[in-house]
Amino acid sequence: LIDSATTAEPSELQESLKEAAELLRGGGVVAFPTETVYGLGADARLTSAVEAVFAAKGRPSDNPLIVHISKNEQLEGLVKQVSPAARKLMDAFWPGPLTVVLPVKPDVLSPRVTAGLDTVGIRMPDHPVALALIEESGCPVAAPSANRSGRPSPTLASHVLEDLGGSIDGIVDGGATGVGVESTVVQVLEDGSVTVLRPGGVTLEQLAQAAGVPVHLDPALLPESGSMSGHAPRAPGMKYTHYAPKGTLRIVTGEPVEVSEWIRSSLQEAAERGERTGILAFDEHIGSYRADCTESLGSLSDLGTAAHRLYAALRRMDEEQISFILSEACPEDGLGAAIMNRLRKAAGQTVIHLGGSAR
Ligand code: TXA
Ligand code: MG
Repeated sequence: LIDSATTAEPSELQESLKEAAELLRGGGVVAFPTETVYGLGADARLTSAVEAVFAAKGRPSDNPLIVHISKNEQLEGLVKQVSPAARKLMDAFWPGPLTVVLPVKPDVLSPRVTAGLDTVGIRMPDHPVALALIEESGCPVAAPSANRSGRPSPTLASHVLEDLGGSIDGIVDGGATGVGVESTVVQVLEDGSVTVLRPGGVTLEQLAQAAGVPVHLDPALLPESGSMSGHAPRAPGMKYTHYAPKGTLRIVTGEPVEVSEWIRSSLQEAAERGERTGILAFDEHIGSYRADCTESLGSLSDLGTAAHRLYAALRRMDEEQISFILSEACPEDGLGAAIMNRLRKAAGQTVIHLGGSAR
């Protein structure tokens, strides 16, 4: 079952949505587009279906899944209570790339969804195909990103096929996803303060403005602390190496002219060693690099483009069998927080700081 929403007639899309919804109701697993990345959906109440999601992805069973809903009324059946502060964020950003971690109601969802936690992450995606599929299925839809565990998240249906073709029941093709990085995962504490467990499509600045209170980053996510900090991340998924290409990836930061010179000479040395070289760079400097695979992250003045392109660019490096990859960095405000979080994970936290201000 593959249907391109970009080319299909509206009636054909209706048909494929019906078919996909029926598969979900029958305990199947179906990939579908959201505004962030493709998800691999299953009825969150059916343990066998949820187990099939973990199996298809090769996902560690201690990493809980996000549950997707299409309307606010679904929420009360799934969670014990919604604090006013949490409600405020949902009103501001749903449908949209925000996942809110809430106390789970017992005995409704499969215990495999929450991986034994007493909370569940809930999100209402801002994508017509996702919303229609959830609505049509009548299920709360558990859906992690539709990649093999450890691979970059899929932003195209073809990425899903590459990773999971043959081990899932269907894909609804909705063309390229928009945001390109996953949702922001937040937990709202009793005092109304907001902690970001995973930076994503909704920025910290947007959250702080809507919440009217300071927004904290889970200490385990701070770049200075890396994986050596001793803080256990509260989003279990954030402890795994993710998104990593097969080649060695290093992020290079520092004074721009110095960074560009260092990248140029490192790429050349690597090529002379016989490596296949790759570079992820912003348009401001990309023209000066020579590599076997050059991927543009757009302009530094438009990080939305970098987010949109990042995962496809990382996948290209594998397609081109690149063994030595360098990436430029971007400032960590706005979407830059999510982009740098994913890049650091892809690079196994290895960042090369040039110049005197090494952290
Ligand atoms: O944009 C997205 O969020 C995509 C699309 C498909 O909706 N989904 C996604 O799901 O990225 P996944 O499973 O790849 O990532 C879910 C993240 C993981 O880091 C997981 O540990 C965290 O959310 N998470 C889920 N439930 C949680 C909970 N109850 N408490 C803390 N973290 C949770
Ligand atoms: Mg994922």
